Amino acid sequence: MPAITATAPGKVILFGEHAVVYGRPAIAAPVQQVQARAVIAAAPLRPAGEVLIDAPDIGLHSLLSELANIHPLAIAMRGVMDELGLERLPACDVRITSTIPLAAGLGSGAAISVALIRALAQFLGHPLPDERVSALAFEVEKLYHGTPSGIDNTVVTYNCPVYFVKDQVLETIQPLAPFDLAIGDTGVKSPTALTVGDLRRLWQVDKRTYEAIFDEVAEITQLARQAIESGHPEHLGTLMDANQACLERMGVSSPDLERLIAAARLAGAAGAKLSGGGRGGNMIALVGATSAQVVAKALVENGAQRVILTTVRKSF
Ligand code: PMV
Repeated sequence: MPAITATAPGKVILFGEHAVVYGRPAIAAPVQQVQARAVIAAAPLRPAGEVLIDAPDIGLHSLLSELANIHPLAIAMRGVMDELGLERLPACDVRITSTIPLAAGLGSGAAISVALIRALAQFLGHPLPDERVSALAFEVEKLYHGTPSGIDNTVVTYNCPVYFVKDQVLETIQPLAPFDLAIGDTGVKSPTALTVGDLRRLWQVDKRTYEAIFDEVAEITQLARQAIESGHPEHLGTLMDANQACLERMGVSSPDLERLIAAARLAGAAGAKLSGGGRGGNMIALVGATSAQVVAKALVENGAQRVILTTVRKSF
């Protein structure tokens, strides 16, 4: 039996992070330049149930049976087994690799889960529909984030730009005109669960203030959706700046992010903001064909550990 391979892209949140946890909409898009990959091959000479996992990017080489029950890879694999009513897996080798930086707001955890869930289900002869893949990956997300909105697993599974509202039917977005982003990594690891938890504590003591900020973000996100769907991405720069101002008021920005955001704007980006959980990780800047390289250079000169240039476009 040939080895089964599945991949899943990274993602950026374009608008609405954090507010999305409180029921407001958010827009996210896949980033194809970085990918997670799961490869599963049968190991017929080993005893049934012996599953060897090799994940060099996280320094893991272990039998599934030796992983803690709450290990994300174990939750993902057991989720597939439960879904298919299986108590035991055939002996196999599972190799997981990823070029998506960890804890950087690019959805690495969700992409690894989605690639693994897809590969395993297919290996077992029962490929799962996207809806189930996303739902199983969401169970793993809960472990990382505590109270995730579900946006990461959704955009990574469907692999196209999405307009996402928690607990509502998914809406995909088709940009009428493509637009380009520079994604700059501060290199600062910032687990999303921490910023989400800190903001929740602030919200608990002053709901009025934070609900008002979330409402502002919701309006910005709506306008951004219109700009994207009507072929006016040039409006997105101002909207990104406005969204960044709201994120600063939520307390999830950081001097490192703001240095990169300022550098991008100065170098000709039409707008810029942090993307994802904040306090580190990545920022995004809206760039044009001529400003892309200039902005990328300015980001590196101002401390970005890596810059990805990507285009958000219609999915086919
Ligand atoms: O840090 P990331 O890219 O995983 O983004 C999380 C987005 C938040 O809105 C901050 C949290 C969530 O669950 O939606």
